[in-house]
Amino acid sequence: MDDHIHLHNTAADCPPPGGFCRTHELNIQLLAALYAVSRALSRSLDFKDTLHEVLRVLHDEAGLTRGLISVVDPESGKLAIRTIYTPDGHIADDAQYGPGEGIIGLILEKPRTIKLARVADEPRFLNRSGVYAGELPFIAVPIKVGGNLQGVLAVQPEGPEDGLIEERAQFVEMVANLIGQNLRLSLEVEQEKSSLVEERDLLRRTVRHQFGFDSMVGRSAVMRRVFEQARLVAKWNTTVLIRGETGTGKELIANAIHYNSPRARNALVKLNCAALPENLLESELFGHERGAFTGAVESRKGRFEQANGGTLFLDEIGEISPAFQAKLLRVLQEGEFERVGGSRTVKVDVRIIAATHRDLEAAVDMGDFREDLFYRLNVMPLYLPPLRERIEDIPEIARHLLAKIGNDQKRKLTVTDLAQRRLASHDWPGNVRELENCLERAAVLSEDGRIDVDLIRFPSSRERSASKIPRAPTGPAPEAPPPGPAEVDINDPALSERDRVIAALEQAGWVQAKAARILGMTPRQIAYRIQTLNIEVKQF
Ligand SMILES: Nc1ncnc2c1ncn2[C@@H]1O[C@H](COP(=O)(O)OP(=O)(O)O)[C@@H](O)[C@H]1O
Ligand SMILES: [Mg+2]
Repeated sequence: MDDHIHLHNTAADCPPPGGFCRTHELNIQLLAALYAVSRALSRSLDFKDTLHEVLRVLHDEAGLTRGLISVVDPESGKLAIRTIYTPDGHIADDAQYGPGEGIIGLILEKPRTIKLARVADEPRFLNRSGVYAGELPFIAVPIKVGGNLQGVLAVQPEGPEDGLIEERAQFVEMVANLIGQNLRLSLEVEQEKSSLVEERDLLRRTVRHQFGFDSMVGRSAVMRRVFEQARLVAKWNTTVLIRGETGTGKELIANAIHYNSPRARNALVKLNCAALPENLLESELFGHERGAFTGAVESRKGRFEQANGGTLFLDEIGEISPAFQAKLLRVLQEGEFERVGGSRTVKVDVRIIAATHRDLEAAVDMGDFREDLFYRLNVMPLYLPPLRERIEDIPEIARHLLAKIGNDQKRKLTVTDLAQRRLASHDWPGNVRELENCLERAAVLSEDGRIDVDLIRFPSSRERSASKIPRAPTGPAPEAPPPGPAEVDINDPALSERDRVIAALEQAGWVQAKAARILGMTPRQIAYRIQTLNIEVKQF
């Protein structure tokens, strides 16, 4: 290529003292242009935007036209034209140059500056982009990032070669260096962005997998219906009330609803209403202003504000006092509240999912739960039946839980048929949570990962009925039934309410309707008492 390069003796060109030489004039012009280029590049990190602006500056201020910037495509390794600037407009072309193809391809082969006094004289000139003027000079320089070729900057001076191509080429090299630095920055930003996005998407997928509907198993008809209803209600903002005994999967369903809803990108905030005394519950939910109470040294957002745009899961909603029910009702009705100790009204957009193991209808009857709040919450009720009412789900749930436990223990766990049968015969008052604990215990006790019937143990023997449990023939004979209940005066003021209800039940032979009559209650009321007083119902 060297035969095409004009090395120019600039000193010979200079006019006598008193006037500027042409070189000097050009350098001043190019310095101003360089300044404009650096400003264009610093304006934005959006590379595509700035490239075109750089080419415009080269045209308007440096007399370098038909600018072309092509960038190496990381996949094909070819140079793809990103942007071309001609005096009559901006042309974007898809032309690609491989190594050795055309003049620009020469740079791919060996990164270097190419200077041609008249481009048409160069046999390898392809003019693939169709924009070059053959009679004009041509300058192409590599754009490098950290020593690696990332692209090519090519221009044509707007007039025929005037002996100053060397100065112009140096200037184009400086511009290419600036572009390279800018490209490195924007590549780094791009990379960081995409790795953040990747990380976020991975997290989201994991969360969705962990809390999506596939984390819940159960093929019984009741559970299939619950899943179907939950899936349907997930996509709306409808308030959901999840009912069911403790350990039946209420929280799991709440997760699945949130993570399958349009709010999945926003927060799912949880609060167990039974876990906090009332005054704390209020500031926890609504937040507080500074100085609202002793210890409130900073103002704080409550769970409602944290859940803005997302979902608030209120667990054990049946446990809140009537005074607190009234406060909650207002937020549910108006979507607004004040922080504790504050006067500013806060507005929020929150989807509510509530859960309780209580019989709320009975609580309403008893005057313990506000009817209006009940109706506010009970828009879409979902009922999770106790495990003992869906024993056909036990094998599958057990397998699912064992896979989870096995994953933690990094080994494969299996369960024998006999053990499965024992699982199916248990009453599971603690439902799936109890099953989970039972299996974890068994897994810990198992040396080889096989869980046989002897490892299935229940800490409190609350099995459903003696006849269903396989007993060793040599074992002790079943206990004789306890002697008949001693007569207790249910009106004895010394009796606690719990004892009074138990006494009535004993007298009624555990027939609830009969016990209710003894106590002067409705069957619903006694059912509620049995639940709230945690009375274990005997079944005969
Ligand atoms: N259908 C189910 N499939 C798999 N795991 C379940 C299922 N139901 C409950 N679990 C598990 O049982 C445990 C208790 O569930 P949870 O949602 O906390 O119950 P609740 O809120 O009703 O007390 C959790 O570890 C949960 O993952
Ligand atoms: Mg729970």
